[in-house]
Parts: sequence; C-alpha cells; structure tokens
Amino acid sequence: MKGAIYYYTGTGNTELACCSIAENINHIDFDLIDITTSKNTNLSKYEVVGFASPTFYMGIPKVFKDFLFSIKEQDKKPAFILNTFGMMQGSYPVFIAKGWGEVNRPNEQQVHDFQSFITDLSSKLGNLKRDGKT
Ligand SMILES: Cc1cc2nc3c(=O)[nH]c(=O)nc-3n(C[C@H](O)[C@H](O)[C@H](O)COP(=O)(O)O)c2cc1C
Repeated sequence: MKGAIYYYTGTGNTELACCSIAENINHIDFDLIDITTSKNTNLSKYEVVGFASPTFYMGIPKVFKDFLFSIKEQDKKPAFILNTFGMMQGSYPVFIAKGWGEVNRPNEQQVHDFQSFITDLSSKLGNLKRDGKT
C-alpha cells in the first residue's frame, strides 16, 4: 500500500516526526514529500495521505496553507494531519507535541503520546487495508 506525507519543516522537527512515522508504520510504504522542493500535488497514486507542519504564530504556516489550497479536492481519500509545536498549538486540531530547541523539548509523556499516535495510526491504516477500503 502506497502513502505520502506532504510536510513543511523549518528546523527539522516535523521532518523527524514524519521519518519516524514512515519507519514505524507497517502496511504503508510512505513517500516523504517536502512541499518546498516538490511541485507534485497529484495524490492519485497514493492510497493514504498525511499532511505535516509546525505551528507558526498560533496557526498554519502560510506556505503550508497555500500548498493545501493548491491541492485538488479529493473524494474520500484517507488522510491524517500531524502538527508539531512548542508550547501553544494554536488552531491545529491534532495534539502532537514537539520541543522548541532544548528549552521545551518533549517530556517522556509527550514522547509516549507520540508513539501511541503512531501505533494507533498504524492500526487504523491496517484496518483500512483489511476492510478493503483502499
Ligand atoms: C516563526 C515561528 C513561529 C512559531 N510559533 C509558534 C507558536 O505560535 N506556538 C508554538 O507552540 N510554537 C511555535 N513555534 C515553534 C514551532 O512550532 C516548533 O518548534 C516546531 O516543532 C518547529 O517545527 P520544524 O522544526 O519542523 O520547523 C514557532 C516557531 C517559529 C520558528
């Protein structure tokens, strides 16, 4: 099963989280696509798609928002969102914590939450495959 994670990263935290997902999720062979260097917004070859970026100024970075609006509307394609942030997630709907340099680095609970997120995501994607929804 083929997947993509489209990501934006400034200092590498989000990219690191995406690499962790790609390495730890079974069932899916993920392409990691940096939206600043790839112009490929054709999602048709992917059965599941992730979108990942940090919080900037309590919201979605403009470059990532512009990218999201450039994608053609999809019909029932399974998708997930991953957001890293320092202390205040802002308008992102999903809680995935990541440190702000060494100052507010994730504590053990937050790392555990992230690992749980990956395990849960892996299981959900496995169910989609089992149920023939992709
Ligand atoms: C310009 C800028 C604005 C930021 N704004 C916020 C914010 O509003 N809330 C927050 O919790 N973290 C904020 N952060 C911290 C980042 O969201 C956090 O460090 C994130 O993990 C960085 O991801 P990246 O390494 O993939 O760029 C900001 C960082 C930068 C550089």
